[in-house]
Amino acid sequence: MPIRILINGAQGKMGQETVKAVSEHSKDFTLVAKTGKSDDLTKSIRDHKPQIVIDFTHADAAFKNTQTIIEAGAHPVIGTSGLLKNQIALLQKRCSELKLGGIIVPNFSLGAVLMMKCAKEIARHFSIVEIIEAHHAGKLDSPSGTAMRTAELITSSRTEEPLQPAHTKETLTGARGAKYGNIPIHSIRLPGIIANQEVIFGAPGETLSIKHTTIDRQCFMPGVLLACKKVMGLDKLVYGLEELM
Ligand SMILES: NC(=O)c1ccc[n+]([C@@H]2O[C@H](COP(=O)([O-])OP(=O)(O)OC[C@H]3O[C@@H](n4cnc5c(N)ncnc54)[C@H](O)[C@@H]3O)[C@@H](O)[C@H]2O)c1
Repeated sequence: MPIRILINGAQGKMGQETVKAVSEHSKDFTLVAKTGKSDDLTKSIRDHKPQIVIDFTHADAAFKNTQTIIEAGAHPVIGTSGLLKNQIALLQKRCSELKLGGIIVPNFSLGAVLMMKCAKEIARHFSIVEIIEAHHAGKLDSPSGTAMRTAELITSSRTEEPLQPAHTKETLTGARGAKYGNIPIHSIRLPGIIANQEVIFGAPGETLSIKHTTIDRQCFMPGVLLACKKVMGLDKLVYGLEELM
C-alpha cells in the first residue's frame, strides 16, 4: 500500500518541489493533503489521516508544527530549519515515549550530507576550521541548519581543542563571523544563490576545503523520499539524514 503523505508548507519553494516528487512516485506514496499557513494542521491530519507529515514551513513554526504532528500520531519528516538543540531533545523524548518514528533533517541533499560526513572525518586530523555558507536572499534564519549541524559534527569528532589563531581585533563587529563553540560561521545572503557551503580546515602550511553547491532544489528530493520510506520503520526521532544512510 502506498504511504499516505501530507505536505505542510506546500505552496513554498521546497513544498512545491516536494509535491512534485511525491506525486511522481505514486507507487510508493499517496499525497493525501497539501496545507499552508492558513490551515489548521491538527484538523487536516484528523481529516486526511496521513501516515507521514512533511514540513517545509518557517523557522518560527517548526517546533509547534512538529509537536502537532507527533501528538496527532503521524510520523514527522521535518525539513524546516531553525529548531534549537533543546527543542530537538524535547521532541525526541516525546517520540521515544510514544515509540513514534520521525526525522529532522537540516539538509536532504546527498552531497551536503557527504560534505558533513567528510568534515567530521577531517576534523579528527585538522582541528582549526571555519564555515562559509551562502543562501538565497529570502532565507530567514542565519546561520543555516546545515552549518550548525556541520559545526556540531566537527565538535563531536575533534580529538584535540584547536589552537586559536592569534587574537584579532574586530574593527567591524561581526567580521569574524558567529561562533558555534570556537568554530566561526560566516553567512552570506544574496539573490542568485540557492544553498552553498564551504568548510575550510587550516593547518601550518596547508588548507583543506570541501565545498558543496546546490544548483536546483530537486537535489533535496531523493533524501526526502528516502526519509519517508525509513521513518515508517523507526520507533524514535532521529536527527540528520546521515543516521539513515
Ligand atoms: N532540510 C533541507 O534540506 C532544506 C532545504 C531547503 C530549505 N529548507 C528549509 O525549509 C523551510 C522552507 O523553505 P522554502 O525555501 O520552501 O521557504 P518558502 O518561504 O518558499 O516556503 C515556506 C512556506 O511555508 C508556509 N508557512 C509559513 N508558516 C507556516 C505555518 N506556520 N504553517 C504552515 N505553512 C507555513 C509559507 O506560507 C510558505 O508557503 C525553511 O526553513 C528552509 O530553511 C530545508
